[in-house]
Amino acid sequence: MNSQKIAMRVMAVYSVKGGVGKTTSALNLAMLSSLQGRRTLLFDLDSQGAATWMLNGGLPKAHKADMRRMLKGKDLDARLLDTRYKNLMLWPNGPEHADLSLELAEMKHATERLARLLERLEGQFDEVVLDCPPGLGLVADNIFEAAHDILMPLIPAPLSLRAALQVRDALAARPKAPRMSAFLSMVDRRRGLHRQFVEEHGAELPELLPEWIPASSEIERQTVSRVPVTFAQPRSEAAQAYYRLWRAIHVPLAD
Ligand SMILES: Nc1ncnc2c1ncn2[C@@H]1O[C@H](COP(=O)(O)OP(=O)(O)OP(=O)(O)O)[C@@H](O)[C@H]1O
Ligand SMILES: [Mg+2]
Repeated sequence: MNSQKIAMRVMAVYSVKGGVGKTTSALNLAMLSSLQGRRTLLFDLDSQGAATWMLNGGLPKAHKADMRRMLKGKDLDARLLDTRYKNLMLWPNGPEHADLSLELAEMKHATERLARLLERLEGQFDEVVLDCPPGLGLVADNIFEAAHDILMPLIPAPLSLRAALQVRDALAARPKAPRMSAFLSMVDRRRGLHRQFVEEHGAELPELLPEWIPASSEIERQTVSRVPVTFAQPRSEAAQAYYRLWRAIHVPLAD
């Protein structure tokens, strides 16, 4: 496979659907990236601020909630927060911040703002992981413009296929689209839905990776401890599953 030399890889953990494991996956993949020695930025694009809460306990008090200045790349260094983990920085977000799509709607080059902003971080990071809010629209357009990879968690259930095909269509309509991959998330092995999903829909969805993430109490507990399972319990089944997923998506991009 020919590979593109990408200095700073941008991976969006994205789905049109809510509650499918985007934040959990973004956090653990960013953690693994940093553990591999890659200078990593976890970019919290969701004003629910779940990733920010996990890594920083919320927005710092002094953090100015001027989303427009942020989107213009002003005071970049002051926007980036160190975390307690080596090689891992955070672009925080939270409910105090203005709604991203409303801000974007009033700006010029509204669909390219994120890509332009990330260009300014070239050289500072090897990997940027975007924790995305659910849904299509202006924020998603920015994500599709900025990312090299769209990684989509799917719950093994029939409606998930529809969601994945919707994203594929949205990407296909673009002149230059990022690569899309999907994986099954929160798999309960006892229920067999995982195998059933792959048997029924695997052919329609070649983007579906064989790697999957189990439903796991360690992952549930990480929201209490606020320590990603890949850091706290690297040998656990859940952490190993994230590690396999991380390796699978880290093949070079085709030209
Ligand atoms: N593999 C898993 N096993 C058990 N629980 C999980 C797993 N993945 C995620 N969860 C839990 O499911 C809930 C939703 O996960 P998460 O917040 O990652 O989803 P999301 O797609 O980011 O949601 P939203 O669309 O609201 O941002 C959280 O409470 C999380 O701890
Ligand atoms: Mg989330």
